[in-house]
Amino acid sequence: MKKQLEKLKNEIIDNLDKVKSSDVLRALEIKYLGRKGELTKILRGIADLSVEEKKILGKMANEVKTELQAKFKRAKEMIEGSAAAEGFIDVTLPAGEKINRGHLHPITQVQNELEDLFTSMGFMVLDGPELESDYYAFEALNIPAHHPARDTQDTFYITKETGKETKSPIGDLVSGVFGEASDLVMRPHTSPVQIRAMRKYGAPLRLVVPGKVFRSEALDANHEHTFYQLEGLMVGEDISISNLTAVLKEMLSGILKQEVELRLRPGYFPFVEPGFEIDIKCTICNGPGCPSCKYGGWLEMLGAGLVHPNVLRAGGIDPEKYSGFAFGMGINRLAMMKYGIDDIRWFNSGDLRFLNQF
Ligand code: PHE
Repeated sequence: MKKQLEKLKNEIIDNLDKVKSSDVLRALEIKYLGRKGELTKILRGIADLSVEEKKILGKMANEVKTELQAKFKRAKEMIEGSAAAEGFIDVTLPAGEKINRGHLHPITQVQNELEDLFTSMGFMVLDGPELESDYYAFEALNIPAHHPARDTQDTFYITKETGKETKSPIGDLVSGVFGEASDLVMRPHTSPVQIRAMRKYGAPLRLVVPGKVFRSEALDANHEHTFYQLEGLMVGEDISISNLTAVLKEMLSGILKQEVELRLRPGYFPFVEPGFEIDIKCTICNGPGCPSCKYGGWLEMLGAGLVHPNVLRAGGIDPEKYSGFAFGMGINRLAMMKYGIDDIRWFNSGDLRFLNQF
């Protein structure tokens, strides 16, 4: 009888291992553990045994029964998916593949912060075309054709596709199909949007224009062919340089999270009069000079000035009644200062070793 019991137990365990559905499991339970089940039959037989045998086999049979009941319960949990019972979840398995979340480019982060600062001061945030007409990019900004100021803002010129064989714009070294000059350029600054905005909204006016600009540059750690600017324009009655410096201080200390000191030097831009180059006291050494400010103690940050009367006129605003200030700032330069970035070329590199630091 002992052997019979052992055999039955092993048979049941074998069967349980193969069970995949709860219907089969229930059938097995009835077959073995049910009222007329095989185990029950054996257990009943114990009654006929001698007292000695009863003692030993009775105990053993009961143990087998409890063990099998537990196994049935576990099998049921497994099948029903409630295998939360410890032992069924292998906590040492790898957690699966981690999904990397992207994030905003450092330039976009600084741009968003700038937009927040300016909207808090009542400025609109505007956009303008990157492919701009010569008129808005230069003419309307008081830079006539052939004016030497065009050289400092040399950009990429777009040709008209004529299909005709024409002379190479750079001499005889290159030949091929070249278009004729069109009046479109990749904008070298965000200043054209000054004119577009004045024409659309009139005075008074407060706006900033963040955006991508292009220059034909010899590339180095401080010069890129494609970078970002933030243009600012405020037009109203009696707008003066004090308004300009107040707004700039508010913006720069807001971004750099510290008080900044400004220095205005005369600077020439045809669309402002007077015009300035504006520096801030080096935020690294605070004045005495260090490698970051090339030992000058000051860092050049923006071009700015009071809007030239010709520019107000081109924008349809009466310079007798209104005045205004304008500024243009490199967002890349500002981000470089804020984060201590040593080379402007990192921004367009797409290098994740750089980008993942922000
Ligand atoms: N547009 C000028 C530049 O790109 C900057 C500037 C803007 C200067 C507005 C004065 C006023 O260099």
